Amino acid sequence: MHVYQARQEQLRQQPATWLVTGVAGFIGSNLLETLLQMGQQVVGLDNFATGFQHNLDEVKGRVAASAWQRFRFIRGDIRDLEACRSACTGVEYVLHQAALGSVPRSIEDPVNTNANNINGFLNMLVAARDAKVRRMVYAASSSTYGDHPGLPKVEDTIGNPLSPYAVTKLVNELYAAVFARTYGFATIGLRYFNIFGQRQDPDGAYAAVIPKWFAGLLKGEPVFINGDGETSRDFCFIDNCVQANILAATADVAAADQVYNVAFGERTSLNELYRLIRERVAGSVPTAGAAEPVYRDFRAGDVRHSLADISKAEQLLGYHPAFTVRAGLDQATDWYLQRFV
Ligand SMILES: NC(=O)c1ccc[n+]([C@@H]2O[C@H](COP(=O)([O-])OP(=O)(O)OC[C@H]3O[C@@H](n4cnc5c(N)ncnc54)[C@H](O)[C@@H]3O)[C@@H](O)[C@H]2O)c1
Repeated sequence: MHVYQARQEQLRQQPATWLVTGVAGFIGSNLLETLLQMGQQVVGLDNFATGFQHNLDEVKGRVAASAWQRFRFIRGDIRDLEACRSACTGVEYVLHQAALGSVPRSIEDPVNTNANNINGFLNMLVAARDAKVRRMVYAASSSTYGDHPGLPKVEDTIGNPLSPYAVTKLVNELYAAVFARTYGFATIGLRYFNIFGQRQDPDGAYAAVIPKWFAGLLKGEPVFINGDGETSRDFCFIDNCVQANILAATADVAAADQVYNVAFGERTSLNELYRLIRERVAGSVPTAGAAEPVYRDFRAGDVRHSLADISKAEQLLGYHPAFTVRAGLDQATDWYLQRFV
């Protein structure tokens, strides 16, 4: 049996209480759904800055009524230490996702990104440490590799950050390491690489590329490619990311006080991604089949190529990403079709 299945089985037998911060967001709501389906108790914290009640409502509709009763939602802000303390009470595992995402948002408003992503993170570390939780896992980011040209990205070799957002995610890792050294509170950071899937927000100026393109093609609106389209990313389906979180939370202490790449381990160019999405959408919206993208300038703060070496997570966490990019896009297509068609 694969490590993930075995760990899920153990949790089903001995359910635990989890805190998911950012629970109304894309990744948080997917963590919530899986944990409830696994019979866990879940506390969720969110201030709805970029998350939505409709994400929570969707999870409610997808799990049994008895599972939904195991969820307690707290509307609160991680910038408020007392809110973090109250959310951590009685919790065994923390999956900390709350932050302001988006490189361009951070370039426009670095002060706000800093306050949420650094002050909020520090509050969560203090609250989780004081509540004596068994493990805190937090959302780190591939942006931490910054300007380092090496490919694939290996955890111990990073460059200079290219945006305020990247600074905040690097500082999270620095604080996490200091909490292990100073207080013996060892966490695990997961450096996510372009996660995608159901409930990733397609609207707004800071939407990520996959939801933005699904929405554009489904609504018959222009789809823009920043640069020549040969920029590449290691796109990773959400279920792989959920798996990494559950494995990290329950991993042996020897795997703690570390960061891990969470990706699929394959590179897809934007041009290729566009074709993959278009062919999936065209099955339901034939006019999309002929739609051509509009090329425009490269975007400030973006790295040219990104590809993860995932062997550390494979070896130390037992991570085994089950969904390829294509399989993940198939799932995402169903969800965006339901939403827009
Ligand atoms: N999606 C990706 O590809 C990706 C890549 C790298 C890192 N990450 C990180 O993963 C985490 C989750 O990202 P996501 O894609 O689900 O984004 P998201 O915007 O959908 O979710 C973030 C959630 O955090 C909440 N939040 C923000 N500030 C808060 C605050 N001060 N107090 C309480 N709640 C707050 C938002 O309302 C939202 O529900 C973030 O930390 C993000 O930086 C995501």
